[in-house]
This record gives sequence, structure tokens and C-alpha cells, in this order.
Amino acid sequence: MCGIVGYIGHREAYPVVLKGLKRLEYRGYDSAGVAIYDGKNIKLSKTKGKVADLETRVKDEITVDGSLAIGHTRWATHGEPNDVNSHPHYSNSGDLVIIHNGIIENYEPLKQELINRGYKFQSDTDTEVLVNLIEDVKKNENVKLGKAVQIALNQVVGAYAIAVFDKNKPDEIVVARLGSPLVIGIGDEEFFIASDATPFIEYTNNAIYLEDEEMAIVRRGKKVKVRKIKDDSLVDPYVQELQLNLEQIEKGGYDHFMLKEIYEQPRAILDTFRGRMLSNDGIIRMAGVDDNIEKFLNAQRILIVACGTSWHAGLVAEYVFENLTRTPVEVEYASEFRYRNPVITEKDVVIAISQSGETADTLAAIKLAKSKGAFVFGVCNVVGSSISRETNAGAYTHAGPEIGVASTKAFTTQITVLTLIALKLAQKKGTISTSEFHGYLSEMDAIPAKVEKTLESDEHVKAISSIYKDATNFLYLGRGYNFPVALEGALKLKEISYIHAEGYPAAEMKHGPIALIDEQMPVVVIATRKGHYEKVVSNIQEIKSRKGKIIAVVMQGDTTIRKIADYVIEIPETLELLTPLLTTIPLQLLSYYIAVMRNCNVDQPRNLAKSVTVE
Ligand code: F6R
Repeated sequence: MCGIVGYIGHREAYPVVLKGLKRLEYRGYDSAGVAIYDGKNIKLSKTKGKVADLETRVKDEITVDGSLAIGHTRWATHGEPNDVNSHPHYSNSGDLVIIHNGIIENYEPLKQELINRGYKFQSDTDTEVLVNLIEDVKKNENVKLGKAVQIALNQVVGAYAIAVFDKNKPDEIVVARLGSPLVIGIGDEEFFIASDATPFIEYTNNAIYLEDEEMAIVRRGKKVKVRKIKDDSLVDPYVQELQLNLEQIEKGGYDHFMLKEIYEQPRAILDTFRGRMLSNDGIIRMAGVDDNIEKFLNAQRILIVACGTSWHAGLVAEYVFENLTRTPVEVEYASEFRYRNPVITEKDVVIAISQSGETADTLAAIKLAKSKGAFVFGVCNVVGSSISRETNAGAYTHAGPEIGVASTKAFTTQITVLTLIALKLAQKKGTISTSEFHGYLSEMDAIPAKVEKTLESDEHVKAISSIYKDATNFLYLGRGYNFPVALEGALKLKEISYIHAEGYPAAEMKHGPIALIDEQMPVVVIATRKGHYEKVVSNIQEIKSRKGKIIAVVMQGDTTIRKIADYVIEIPETLELLTPLLTTIPLQLLSYYIAVMRNCNVDQPRNLAKSVTVE
């Protein structure tokens, strides 16, 4: 995690870097810092807290003129979040300064060696070890900064995206990556360095995404030189033209990115199936699937790996794939999968789901599956991300940038992509009839408008939120396709409002959790008229008779549950298999409003970061 930004060119560098850090705060926000070179000196300022705190501190501490700067926003790994552990870090001589996203796993022995050679350390970070290692190599081998970085990185085990510069060679920034993202924006006589493209999108659309084990020297007025860290071979960098625009990464009048992203779902779902699903012609086309159709059709099993919300999308997909295609599906937490010596064969198709495309555990699970010969398909949102490049093939979700830390539109668009794949395979395999296939397609077409309609419950959900905002526990129940939605609803509430919440399959209540029910306990029940409706009604009765409070998500016109629930939230009628795309919406709104009412930082919940690039 952590966000890194750098600038070298003809502008004042600080405002560029500061704005960039604000855009990257989703990656970590427990401390922040900048180093600016003004032609003579490095001016460094850093602090525990958010980028806004850094901005205040900079005003008191340093002058900000200079056309080279690097900045960092941190999600702590080694060393608690405090001023000293914040980045940038100086080398002992004060000549080198570095920012780093990642973890140097062998930092302890390296640190000990450096201490034995007389180096002193101010912080508890692995990063300070790295910058001193670079300094040590530079001195001992009598080499330039770029070479010193390369030699040092060959001694390092772990993950990194770094940017480092030398006070004595202030026309260049040296950058490198392994396992953490790093992109170089190419402007007119100026360069930008960042963890993703959002910090520089208003200046340039041209970018070089460094690959793992690559480094680059970004030199004022020169072409960017990219090399392999291991063998020093030169790489011809591919300059990509980005499709991103500024509007997509701004709040657009909403109070929070999360709310904006909830409201973007009708458009995001439409963009996800646009051009892929031709419902009038009865066609689904998706290059990544079409080109590998035999692999999918011959798969003896589909294995889904993901984390967090993406794992919940995987669980929905398990129900969808098994129902439509009759292929066995297993869904695994990527973090567990990779460490338990799983049985994987060449006959398995592995689907890796990730919004960011950078989640370290998912990435490692993919590598493991590939090493066993499985075909690995990625479902990612961020174009050009590590997972999208590591997988054998894939499909993007086209949700647009998701900046709120709590995932919303990523979830519904992941379900959309996975449902399209399942429908395509079911059609090919003949496991659903032609009329069923057409029925699904035309209902899928109607989903964006139905999500729009579901969003009309906003004020009603807000009113319910004000009633339960002080609850200390919540239960979320669902069955079938909506069991994963219950898990997702509980996760959303936990992560942004810090209320303890549990998701359960409704029928499991009686095997334990029912003991928790009393008059204080709000229970959110997803009770669409499809999936096991009568059974869910009975589950609601069981809760009511123990005085629990029921907030039910029901289908339009439901009168049965209206009579027994404390509150009902309606969604439009749809096919059972597609209900998660609608039932999720009120649960997102509920967690959003409760968090706002509890004065929680919705877009940047404590202890979290948007892309989890550590294991
Ligand atoms: C929850 C959330 C996280 C992510 C998880 C995986 O709102 O955002 O649980 O879903 O960290 O991230 P990706 O999808 O980027 O791999």
C-alpha cells in the first residue's frame, strides 16, 4: 500500500506532488511527507496524519520552491505511524532521499550489517535501511545513483516501488518496482512518477507502466531509460495512452467518493456489459473468454480466488456458475489458498477477482495456480494492473476508478462480468435452454434502470439509518444468491462505521447466532420473493418472536413481510439470479448513512487502505 508521487520538470513541483498525494490517499493515510529540491538544498517535511496535516506542517517548516519533489502517503507496515517513521527518508550523509511502497523482508540482517559498518538509524522502517544500503553501495563501489540502486535492489528480498534522488545529481530521479505499482507520466519536458496515473492525468495521458523487476532513470530533458534490475538489459518502454479523465477521479458534487460510486452503479453496470452483451441478437462476446473457450468448456472445476468484497463477488459467482453451467466451483480466500498446498491441475480454470489488480495475496495465488499449469483468468477493474498482466487472459469490469476505500461499484460490476461469462458458457454447453438464455439477457439489459430505481430508496434508507446508527451489533441474513450479499452488507458496515456486524445464511441462525437476538439487535434480512421465500419468512418470525428488529429488503409489492418487519426496503422485481445486483444497493446506502451519522471518515476508514499490496 502507500502512495508515492514524484515530479521533475519546469513547474513548481510541490503543488503537483501535494495534489497527487491527495489523490493517492486511498492507498494509505496514516502519515505523509515531501522532499523538495530547490537547486541547492533538499527541504523535507513529514508528519503523522493525513496529507492535509502535511500541508499545514509544510507551511510552518519549509519553503516550497523547487522543480523536483517526491512525496509519500503511508499505510504503516514496519514501525508505528509517527513523524519519524514517515517517508521520505534520508541516507546518513543526507545526500540521498527515498520514498517507498512495499516491504523489504530481509531488512533486519541488512540493517545489522549497516550498523556494523557505522550507519545510524532514526526510524524503525525498512525503507531507511534501503536508502542507506544504496548509499553504502554507491560509496564502496564508486558508482552513480542508478547503478547503486540496481546493485542494492539485487540484495533485497521483498516488494517495492521506490523513487530516490541524490542531492549531488539533482537532474534525475531513479525509480524501480517489484510487486508494487509504479507508473511514469511523460509530459512535455517534464515527468511524473506515481503509484497510479491519477496524480498526473490533468498534465498528460502518456504513461509508462514499469513491469516487475524493472527500474528507470527519469532525467530532466532526456528520454526515460528502462532496464531490468537483475541483468541490466535495456528495455524498450511501451508508452501507453491512458483513457482516464479528471472528472472520473473527482467527487462531482457528492459529499463522498463512496456515495458517488454507489450512484454510478447504473452507468458502471451498463459500461460493463456494453458491447459484450447483444441481447437482441442473443450474443455474449468477451475476447478473453472467446479466445479460450475450450479451456472453459473443458474445465473439470472452476476455482475462484479473491479477497474481501471481491471474494463475496466470487461467492455470488459460485451460485451463478453452478446453477447455469453445472461446472463445480470452489471459492477461496487467496491468502488461505496460497499457503495450504492446494490441489490444482491443468484441468482447472482459476478465476482471480480484484478491483485494484494489485492485491498481494491474490497475485501470489495466481502465480501458484499458473505454476501448477492451471489456466488463470482475471476479473479486474484497474487497467494495466499487475493482476491483469499476470493472468493468462481476463475481462475488465469497466467500473471506472473506485476511490472510496469501501468497495461498491466494483462488487456489482464484478458480478456482472461473472454472470456474463456463466451465461456464455451455459449457452455453449447447452445447460440452459435458448429461451432461458434470452430471458436472462433481456433482464440483464433492464438491470441498470432497476438499480436506478433501487437508488430511489435513498431517503428511506437514510431515515432507517438514523434509527439504528447507535446500535453496537448488526446481523445480516440472506439465502442462496443473497447469502454473499449478507456477508457484503456486514463487511460494508464494519469497515466504515466500526459497528460489529455478522453476515449469515438465514437458515444457520438457529444453529447459534439466534442466541444473540434481543430487542437491541437490528437484523437486516434479504427476503426477495424468489429464493426460498417461505423459509426466510419463517426465519424472520423466529427473530421477531425474540424481539429482534427487522429491516427487510423485499421485492416490490411484498405484503407478507411488510406485516412482520419493522422496516422494509423495496427493490424492483427481477430474476432470482440477478437479485444480488439490486439487493446490494440498499445495504451500501445503509452503511454509508450510518457511517456519516457517526461522523466516521467514510472514504478513508481507519486502519484500511484501498489496495492491499502486502501479505
Ligand atoms: C472492502 C474492500 C476490500 C477489498 C479487498 C480486495 O470494501 O474494499 O475488502 O475488496 O481488499 O481488494 P481487490 O478487489 O482490490 O483485490
